[in-house]
Amino acid sequence: MCGIIGYTGSKNALPILIHGLKKLEYRGYDSAGIALLSQGSIFIEKSKGNISNLERKLSNIKLTSNIGIGHTRWATHGEPSDINAHPHTNSINTIAIVHNGIIENYIELKELLEKNFNIKLKSETDTEVIAHLIDHLWNGNLLSTLYKVTQKLTGSYALSVIAKDDPNKIIAVRKDSPLIVGVGENENFIASDIPAILKYTKNVILIENNEFVEITKDYINIYDESGNSIERESIEITWQVEEAEKENFDHFTLKEIHEQPKTLKNILNHNIIKNKLNIQNLNITEEELRNFNKFYIVGCGTAYNAGLIGKYIFRKFVGIDIICEIASEFRYNDPIIDDKTLVICISQSGETLDTIQSIRLAKEKGAKILSIVNIIGSSITRESDYIFYTIGGPEIGVASTKIFTCQLLALNLIALEFGKLLKFLNDNQIEKFLKELQTIPEKAQTILDNTQKIKDIAHKQFQNENIFYMGRTLDMDISFEASLKLKEISYINSFAIGAGELKHGTIALVNDKTFVVALSTQDKLIEKMMANTKEVKARGAKVLAITKETLKFPNDCCDELILIPNTLDIFTPLLSIIPLQLFAYYVSTFRGNDVDKPRNLAKSVTVE
Ligand code: G6P
Repeated sequence: MCGIIGYTGSKNALPILIHGLKKLEYRGYDSAGIALLSQGSIFIEKSKGNISNLERKLSNIKLTSNIGIGHTRWATHGEPSDINAHPHTNSINTIAIVHNGIIENYIELKELLEKNFNIKLKSETDTEVIAHLIDHLWNGNLLSTLYKVTQKLTGSYALSVIAKDDPNKIIAVRKDSPLIVGVGENENFIASDIPAILKYTKNVILIENNEFVEITKDYINIYDESGNSIERESIEITWQVEEAEKENFDHFTLKEIHEQPKTLKNILNHNIIKNKLNIQNLNITEEELRNFNKFYIVGCGTAYNAGLIGKYIFRKFVGIDIICEIASEFRYNDPIIDDKTLVICISQSGETLDTIQSIRLAKEKGAKILSIVNIIGSSITRESDYIFYTIGGPEIGVASTKIFTCQLLALNLIALEFGKLLKFLNDNQIEKFLKELQTIPEKAQTILDNTQKIKDIAHKQFQNENIFYMGRTLDMDISFEASLKLKEISYINSFAIGAGELKHGTIALVNDKTFVVALSTQDKLIEKMMANTKEVKARGAKVLAITKETLKFPNDCCDELILIPNTLDIFTPLLSIIPLQLFAYYVSTFRGNDVDKPRNLAKSVTVE
C-alpha cells in the first residue's frame, strides 16, 4: 500500500523520482506526487490518477533539483484527490513528507493541532498531521525533531521527509512498513521496494523496524530508536534490471504467467541436487520437527489459496493435518497455539500486515514460524525461525501468478523434506516424487505453447457476467484461486465452489447465461465431476472442462476442453492453474482493463 521514494545525489532528482514511482505503482496508483528541494524552497506537484497524470503536470517544469521525495498512493484516509495525494507539508511549506502506513491516533493529533495551535489541515489524510507536528516540534535539526515526532505517533509508517531549514538530506524512519536504502556513488536512495532503485544500484541496505536513516549524497547513517548509530553492510541484489521490465510482453501479468517454467525450474535446481533434496536455508532438524504436534498455514489472497493446496500436500507427504487460515481471521479467532506449534506463513511480499501480525501473535504464544517468502530480507523473513525463499524474481503484476506456482512448489519441497526427516517417506518414494516434479516446468511450457485455444475461449466469454468455477478437493481449491484471478483483473462477479456442494444452494444461480469452469484432474473423481457438469449443462450452462490428457472427459459433459499434461494428482495444481491464469488475463484484456493495475487493489497490503 503506497510506495515511497527519495533521492539525493548529483543528478537531476525529478526523472529518478518519476522512474521510481513507476516501479512502485503496483503498491497503489490512485494518486501520486513529488517534492523537490530547490534554491531554498520546496516545490510540490501532485495529481489524482496514475503517474502519467503527474508527469503531464510536470512536463513544463524548468527547475532542477538534486534532492526530492515522491509517493504513489492507495487511499485509506480520504478519497483519491490532488489534495489528499502526498507529499504533505506544514502550513508554510518548509517541510514535506511522504508516508506509507496508517497513523492510528491522527484524529487526536489533528484536534491537538487545531485547538492548541490553530493549525488548519488541508487534507483528509492521517499523514498531514505529521508534517505539522514536525513544524511544531522543530528544533533546527530534522533527524532529532523526527525522533520527538515519532514518539507521538501510533500505527505503522515508513516516512521520508525533507526540510528547507535542514537541507541536503532526507530523513526516513520505519515502523511496520517496508523501507530500504539504495547505496549509490555520489547518490543515495530511499524506497519502499527494490525495483524503484534497481536501475541505479544493486546495493541495498534493509532498514529494520524503529530505525531512522539519514541520507545525503555522500553518506548514509542509520540509528536505532534510542539514537545509537548502527553499522550495517549492504546486500547485493542479484535480480537483473530486465526482470523488472515488461520486455516484449504487453503486460507484466502476461510476462509473469509465461515465466513460470523458468521460475519453477529455478526452485527445483536450487533445492534438488543429483536427484536428492537439498533444501537451501531451511535448517530445520528432525528433533525440532518432532517437537511439533500442531501445524497451521496462514496467508492472504493468493498466498492463502496456495496454503489450501498445502493441506493436501502435507497429508500426502508428511501424514499430518494442517489447519489453513486466512491471516486476518487467524489473528482474531483465538487459535490454540503453544510451543509445540509450527506456523507456516506464506507471502509473496513478506510485508502483508495481517500476515505479519498473525506470526507475531503465534510467536508470543511460543510457536515457531516457517515462512515461504519471495522478497529477500522482507519483514516476515526477519521474524521467522525458518525461511524458504521462492526466488521467483520481482512480481510486478498486482494479481499474483508466477509466485503462486512457486509457493505450491515450495510447499511440495518442504513437505517432502518433512516426510524425509520424520521417515514418513523412504528414499525411493522421495526420489520418485522429485523425478516427477522435475518434469513440471516442461509440462507448464506445453500449456503455455497452447495459449491460442484459451485466448479463443476467453474471447467467446469476455462479456459474460456469470463465470463460476467448481472442482473437488485439490481442484476445488484451485477453483478458488482461478476465480480470484478472474475477479481481480476482469471485475466479473465470479465465485468458486466444491462441485459436490453445488446442489445445496448455488445451482439456483445457474441458467443459460452461466459459464462454468469445471476442474477435473483427478482419476478418482472423474465420474463425480462428469455428473456435476451434466447437472449444470441440464440447466443451460456452458462448461469448460480442465482435465488431464490421460483422463477421458466425454464431449457431452462439456462444451470446451483444455487438456493439461499428465502428472500425479498431487502435482496437478502446479499445471491446472496456468490455463486459468491465461483465461483471466485474456478476459481482462478483451474487456479493456488495466491488467497489471486492477482497480481498487494494491500488491502489497501493509494496512489492516
Ligand atoms: C494483495 C494482493 C494479492 C496477494 C495478497 C497477499 O491482496 O493483491 O495478489 O495475494 O495481497 O500478498 P502477499 O504479498 O502476502 O503474498
